[in-house]
Amino acid sequence: MRLENKVAMVTGAAKGLGESIVRRYVEEGAKVIAVDMTPLTYELDNVTGYVVDVTDRQAVSDFIKDIEKVDILVNNAGITRDALVQKMTDDMWDKVIDVNLNGVYNLVKHVGPMMMKNGNGSIISIASVVGEFGNIGQSNYAATKSALYGLSKTWAKEFSRKGANVRVNTISPGYIMTDILKTIPQELLDKFAKMTMLGRLGEPEEIANAALFLASDESSYITGHNLSANGGMRL
Ligand SMILES: NC(=O)c1ccc[n+]([C@@H]2O[C@H](COP(=O)([O-])OP(=O)(O)OC[C@H]3O[C@@H](n4cnc5c(N)ncnc54)[C@H](O)[C@@H]3O)[C@@H](O)[C@H]2O)c1
Repeated sequence: MRLENKVAMVTGAAKGLGESIVRRYVEEGAKVIAVDMTPLTYELDNVTGYVVDVTDRQAVSDFIKDIEKVDILVNNAGITRDALVQKMTDDMWDKVIDVNLNGVYNLVKHVGPMMMKNGNGSIISIASVVGEFGNIGQSNYAATKSALYGLSKTWAKEFSRKGANVRVNTISPGYIMTDILKTIPQELLDKFAKMTMLGRLGEPEEIANAALFLASDESSYITGHNLSANGGMRL
C-alpha cells in the first residue's frame, strides 16, 4: 500500500493511460480525483469522477476551490492533431497547445501552491518520446511535450522553496497501446516497435507503474527528472 492516505488527482482519467494510472493508484491505497472532459466509463471505490475540460480556466479554478488536499497530481490529459507544419491549420496548432500545455499550467497554478502550503506533494506530467526526439508531422505535439521538461524543472525549483517537500517530474512514454494510436497506420506502429530495444510497443500498465514509482516515497530523492519509459526507443 504505497499510496495509503494519499489523495491523487489524475487528468485524462476516463480511459487509456489515465485510467490505468487511476486503477494502479487505487490498488495502492490512494483516493483518486479523476478528471476528464468526458464522464468516466468505470466505477471504482475511492474514485470520484469530475467532468472538467482542463483548457477551461474558470472551470478548473471553480472545481479546485473545494479541494483542500492533493498529494499527487498527474497531468495526463493530452491530444494529437498531426500534420506536416505546412499543412497544419492554426486550429490544429492551437488546440494541441491548449490541452497539452495550457491545461497543465491551469492545474499546476492551483495545485502546486496547495502542495507547498501542505508541505509535500508529487507532480507528474506525461510528456512523450516525441518531446525528447521530435517526430515528423507532430510539431505541435512535440512543442507541448518538450515544454513540459522546462516547466517541470522550473516548478521543481519553485515548489521546493521554504523547505516544502514537493517533487516535480515527467514521464516520457514511447508508443503505448491506447486509443491515441488509432490514427497511426499499423505498418508505422510495427516500425516503431522494431525501433525499440525490447522489440515491442508498451502496455498502459507499464506507464502506470512508472507513475506509481514517481508518486510514492520510493522516489523521495528524485525531482526535476524525466523518466523515459519507451522500451529503449530512439525516434
Ligand atoms: N499512448 C501513447 O502512445 C502515448 C505516448 C506518449 C505520451 N502519451 C501521452 O499520454 C497521455 C494519455 O494518452 P492516452 O494514450 O491515454 O490517450 P487517450 O486518447 O486514450 O486518452 C486521453 C484522455 O484525455 C482526455 N482529454 C482530452 N482532452 C481533454 C481536456 N481538454 N480536458 C480533460 N480531459 C481531456 C480524453 O477525454 C481521454 O480520456 C497524453 O498526454 C499523451 O500525449 C501517450
